Amino acid sequence: MASVQSLTASVHQRLANALSAALPEAADADPLLRRSDRADYQANGILALAKKAKANPRELATQVVARIESGDLLADVEVSGPGFLNVTITDKAITENLAARYADPDGRLGVPYAENPGTTVIDYAQPNVAKEMHVGHLRSAVIGDAAVQILEFTGEKVIRRHHIGDWGTQFGMLIQYLVEHPHELDHEGGEVSGEEAMSNLDRLYKASRALFDSDEEFKTRARRRVVDLQAGDPETLAQWQKFVDESKIYFYSVFDKLDMEIRDADVVGESGYNDMLDETCRLLEESGVAVDSEGALCVFFDDIKGPDGNPVPLIVRKSDGGYGYAATDLSAIRDRVFNLKADTLLYVVDARQSLHFRMVFETARRAGWLNDDTKAEQLAFGTVLGKDGKPFKTRAGETVRLVDLLDEAIDRATTVVREKAGKVGLIEDEIVENGRYVGIGAVKYADLSTSAVRDYKFDLDQMVSLNGDTSVYLQYAYARIQSILRKAGTARPAAHPELALAPAERALGLHLDQFGELLLEVAKGPEPHKLAAYLYQLASHLTTFYDQCKVLDDANPQEVVENRLFLVDLTARTLHQGMALLGIRTPERL
Ligand code: ARG
Repeated sequence: MASVQSLTASVHQRLANALSAALPEAADADPLLRRSDRADYQANGILALAKKAKANPRELATQVVARIESGDLLADVEVSGPGFLNVTITDKAITENLAARYADPDGRLGVPYAENPGTTVIDYAQPNVAKEMHVGHLRSAVIGDAAVQILEFTGEKVIRRHHIGDWGTQFGMLIQYLVEHPHELDHEGGEVSGEEAMSNLDRLYKASRALFDSDEEFKTRARRRVVDLQAGDPETLAQWQKFVDESKIYFYSVFDKLDMEIRDADVVGESGYNDMLDETCRLLEESGVAVDSEGALCVFFDDIKGPDGNPVPLIVRKSDGGYGYAATDLSAIRDRVFNLKADTLLYVVDARQSLHFRMVFETARRAGWLNDDTKAEQLAFGTVLGKDGKPFKTRAGETVRLVDLLDEAIDRATTVVREKAGKVGLIEDEIVENGRYVGIGAVKYADLSTSAVRDYKFDLDQMVSLNGDTSVYLQYAYARIQSILRKAGTARPAAHPELALAPAERALGLHLDQFGELLLEVAKGPEPHKLAAYLYQLASHLTTFYDQCKVLDDANPQEVVENRLFLVDLTARTLHQGMALLGIRTPERL
């Protein structure tokens, strides 16, 4: 396992050593090292430390400079302004350090693992049975998948949970209809497609709804069916299972289109906690966390009140004895903490459910299921807006079907890919495949490049644009490097630390150096948008580099060609790895 200390970390260490030599009481102090435009880095920490020690900051800074060990790492350290340090590192150190990362046999590009990995359960990609998936489900899936990849990459043990909506009174009507029309979901002629599965469910939903609204006797039978379902009646469960299975065919087809792996074993829907509900209520009641209020079992909070000023409780069990969303979520917490042994629970769910989670988490804390060592957090996401800035709807005011959006994104992207296909010599199959990767990448990147809590506009024109902060811009950056590597002929990437670097090479190199630390920071949130921003900056540094430094130029000495090939190859690998963590493919030729 070869993790490579970044240049930033090395500079930090030397500065800290010099600082504690100059001022013993600053032994653990942070020199506050930042990347800077003036030099490679600037350290701003001395000012505050000098103030605390009642010393002159410029003098302290000068003493730090005198004590710093430069070695091969530091080219120049100078005092500037009231007591800042400007730090410039050697070209040799940059190239050597990147070369060590390039040579990492683990393929991790030298990125270290987190120091204290734990177990995180991520609750994401949770559509509802017998219903269409919409853009909200897209966000949960895309952000959740990135969170899974990022955390796993840092060494965290991640358990995925798809808390699908597969339980509730609405199934009474559906099941009763199926009991009375038993073969409606049988597939004689083999398997059905996702689209067919959804249209079957939609047809059944409409038919049963119509009957429910027009036929009082059916209504009564449907209500009785809910009781049978909750009591676990085998025939009722068997019909219910058909709805779940049909819905899964549909869900998996959409996740597949999203180029996302969802495993059956990780799908543990609301129904998966049925056996725990009674006990959850008993524990809450016995501990006094929940109390009886007009026949319902409720938890109250001082700071949560409705518009009328009355407290709004979390209802764990309704007065008719039925369990709802809260009872299931509280049981899921017990399962995740005590059976799965998680220390972090992450919920990738719409911000509009924040009040629910606040109440659920607080209840679990009072019950002792969550505490300082075992934490739950909602990774709340904002709303997807249409071009008009309002929540995304069709012209008729209906929710937009996720599949339609994805198909349109793929269509648009395929057009973009096709326009350039001749130049790169892509055959039809490659155009189709790249169209999918570019289209799906565009949708994912647009979502992941804004911070999750913010709303964003779903604008396909912008998403597939070749210029600007889009996935296809990053995908082209990657493909362009691959094209250079192919054209390089016999010249191979190789690091040459003895070479002086051009400014654009240094800038690219120093940005590459930050990948490891950035990933650990991204994983903390997790905050995928910071990774997206890093990758976009990386591609921008690459563009500047191309403008100023030719890679394959007959005028270049062999070592320069090799060193530049090495720099762009490490850039490509970093782009590839970073994009993979966001769930986005990087085609070799585009
Ligand atoms: N199925 C829900 C929905 O579509 C999301 C479930 C979120 N997860 C949870 N543990 N409550 O809104």
